[in-house]
Amino acid sequence: MPERMKKELRVSAIREGTVIDHIPANKVFEVVDILKLREHDNIVSVATNLKSKKLGKKGIIKIGGRELTKKEVNEIAIIAPAATINIIRNYEVKNKSKVELPNRFENIIKCSNPKCITNNEEVKTLFYLITKKPLKVKCHYCERVIEGNEIKLK
Ligand code: CTP
Ligand code: ZN
Repeated sequence: MPERMKKELRVSAIREGTVIDHIPANKVFEVVDILKLREHDNIVSVATNLKSKKLGKKGIIKIGGRELTKKEVNEIAIIAPAATINIIRNYEVKNKSKVELPNRFENIIKCSNPKCITNNEEVKTLFYLITKKPLKVKCHYCERVIEGNEIKLK
């Protein structure tokens, strides 16, 4: 069997839906949670620790019969900045795009400052992008800059 075919057979193709590829291996299940895939009642294939030239080890998630919202793509971008989103229609890749970090994150990230108004009153969080690599964001309300593991999704 040709090498390419062996690779394809690791996770079977889907007819309609979304394939998220190039996810860092250790972030795959976080993406599963963001997308609430435990509750999805169509095909969900999750593979991780696959070999990747770019990432060392990568994960892939295939979701039958579903496309992602902009908010979901923004959330994925925070934890998996190298991910690609493939829209599949009738077994073909109709659209391939890289996730992109937006300039502002509305109600996506939790502020790490316990005194911040967003942790004490019914106020939605708002963060601004400072740098992409490493990812640094700044709270609109308390102006705290957070990065790395401090960046937690709400
Ligand atoms: N895929 C799928 N079902 C299909 C078509 C594609 O699950 N009917 C998956 C492939 O297995 C792959 C991803 O969608 O993980 C993107 O497909 P393709 O662009 O053909 O693969 P590559 O060229 O390897 O993608 P890239 O260049 O982004 O690495
Ligand atoms: Zn804050």
